[in-house]
Amino acid sequence: MRLLRPLFALCLFCLGANAVAQVTFEQPNEQVSGERLFDTCVFCHGLEAQGNDRRDGPALAGLPAWYIEQQMKNFRDGIRGTHPEDVPGKVMHFTRGLMRDDAHIARVSEYISGLEPGLPMAANAVGARPYIWDSPYAGLDPSITGDAEAGRQTYATTCALCHGADGSGNEALGAADLRYLSEIYLARQMLYFRDGVRGAHPQDVRGAQMAAMAKILTTDQAIADVIAYIQTL
Ligand code: HEC
Ligand code: HEC
Repeated sequence: MRLLRPLFALCLFCLGANAVAQVTFEQPNEQVSGERLFDTCVFCHGLEAQGNDRRDGPALAGLPAWYIEQQMKNFRDGIRGTHPEDVPGKVMHFTRGLMRDDAHIARVSEYISGLEPGLPMAANAVGARPYIWDSPYAGLDPSITGDAEAGRQTYATTCALCHGADGSGNEALGAADLRYLSEIYLARQMLYFRDGVRGAHPQDVRGAQMAAMAKILTTDQAIADVIAYIQTL
């Protein structure tokens, strides 16, 4: 299995390069609208930013502009997506050339925040995840079933403070909107935060706050429970 890793990394790189090649801009310095720049994201995030599990791209529709902007800068600057175990994060980090500059990041974030949230994942993507990389972070053990009732208590006592009782997030605290994210993406991020794959970079101030919270959930069962509850929000 280990031998497959370099080959797999190459495939991921090609995926990123393919997406970048889909859209070319006439002039390197041309000012591109948020809508047009978004064309470069659909390959992995879906035509309507509803997410594409097949490529591990999360739903972006439903996320507020301030959060999208922050994460894009984190990926661009290597604050997120550079840990050796973070395979999907690396794919996103590879696309940093698309982001151009802060003004373009702000524009595309604003555009995405206006898209309709909650649409189902791209039809051909659901249940068809061909690339399960060799890592404990590829997903929770499928034998674990989340108990939403147990998760509700954890959510109320541990998560609601920052993410809000309704899961809509809190800009002042930098806490994300959790309502439109898929189960598999939520699970991966919780495992990442818990084990220092995300939120451990010295410049990741917000991520460090979340990482401290994720460490409270010591078992995969507790993670599955809280996710089962978040999915009801
Ligand atoms: C080649 C595939 C690919 C392309 C192209 C791509 N992304 Fe991503 N993106 C990903 C993957 C995979 C992740 C998930 C990373 C993880 O699991 O940590 C991601 C994560 C993100 C996140 C973090 C979401 C969250 O909830 O924290 C944002 C924001 C984002 N991408 C924005 C964009 C934007 C905007 C574009 C276009 C300019 C874009 N991406 C292009 C693959 C891609
Ligand atoms: C002290 C405030 C705080 C608490 C409490 C907290 N979080 Fe967070 N959470 C954050 C912040 C801040 C971020 C954004 C981190 C970043 O910018 O990368 C975040 C991000 C996340 C993300 C990633 C979202 C995405 O789009 O990638 C998930 C999932 C999450 N939190 C779930 C939880 C759960 C579940 C709990 C309860 C067990 C919880 N959080 C408790 C502050 C908090």
